[in-house]
Amino acid sequence: MAQNPVRVLVTGAAGQIGYALVPMIARGVLLGPNQPVILHMLDIPPAAESLNGVKMELVDAAFPLLKGVVATTDVAEACTGVNIAIMVGGFPRKEGMERKDVMSKNVSIYKAQASALEKHAAANCKVLVVANPANTNALILKEFAPSIPEKNISCLTRLDHNRALGQISERLNVHVSEIKNVIIWGNHSSTQYPDVNHATVKLPSGEEKSVRELVADDAWLNGEFISTVQQRGAAIIKARKFSSALSAASAACDHIRDWVLGTPEGTWVSMGVYSDGSYNVPAGLIYSFPVTCQNGEWSIVQGLSLDEFSRKKLDLTAEELTEEKALAYSCLS
Ligand code: NAD
Ligand code: LMR
Repeated sequence: MAQNPVRVLVTGAAGQIGYALVPMIARGVLLGPNQPVILHMLDIPPAAESLNGVKMELVDAAFPLLKGVVATTDVAEACTGVNIAIMVGGFPRKEGMERKDVMSKNVSIYKAQASALEKHAAANCKVLVVANPANTNALILKEFAPSIPEKNISCLTRLDHNRALGQISERLNVHVSEIKNVIIWGNHSSTQYPDVNHATVKLPSGEEKSVRELVADDAWLNGEFISTVQQRGAAIIKARKFSSALSAASAACDHIRDWVLGTPEGTWVSMGVYSDGSYNVPAGLIYSFPVTCQNGEWSIVQGLSLDEFSRKKLDLTAEELTEEKALAYSCLS
């Protein structure tokens, strides 16, 4: 039986990530090969012509799953009836800037778009914020869209999660698909804590071994590995002169697909979600946790042990998010 199309909003669709993301969505990477989609693309008036060019290319690509395209600079029209909203619109970081530096430009956008989503999106719309500072933009969106359930608002740290998998894969010369259960804790920033203490690798024999045991180099795992993942966004900006785009788009698809379709048994992923105080992370922040997803709902993985080194790292990134929250409110006042 043919499925009803799902309406997917991409804001900032004329930008770099948007250009990589919309063909992935139209090809079924987001929701699977049998799920038709209608794309809603929003950008600002100076980008309208370019947005129309993206629409033309989507028509030219003749994607079988793509049942319609709305390309607009009107935020109400863009948000109307959407089931999934991927919020990429905003200003990216340039070389030499911290993600915090893009704060004042972006939080006011998220305050305004919160109201539009609240008024016009479908009930139970799932929201993923990609634009930086991603955790704090998501928090602002949540606070200014009080009727959207807090469980439906998330931010992207899956890119960091995938980066951690990539680093372990290169170090151990194993494929990323054999590695599971790394964790990104906290902020999508250089204070994030990429944690491998519970991560395992499936060996060709079928046996599972811990990443720590296989790497057998705690100095690397507690030092260079962490800083490489924390600084990877800056390294991409330095190399490309633009921030990451294809890997960010792919990670956004991974995030939504696992949220909607579920995580495999025994596997968790990292998502920035509203903290309920788990692991003594202050409640009321959007913080990246290990989560499993089932029936369209995420749950924070509970009961993982944290050593003193990890505890300090979790607290440090929470402190930064608390500061960002205060700064965001000061930008809005
Ligand atoms: P970009 O500048 O290429 O594209 C951004 C687009 O947003 C532009 O087309 C711009 O016109 C549009 N825009 C600006 N204000 C808007 C508004 N109010 N409404 C709708 N659209 C608006 O940037 P990019 O490289 O695509 O990056 C987008 C964002 O994603 C940046 O904030 C970047 O820092 C962030 N990012 C996050 C992650 C992550 O893992 N969370 C990864 C990569 C990039
Ligand atoms: C990334 O992690 O690549 C993005 O957040 C872009 C940036 O500013 O680092």
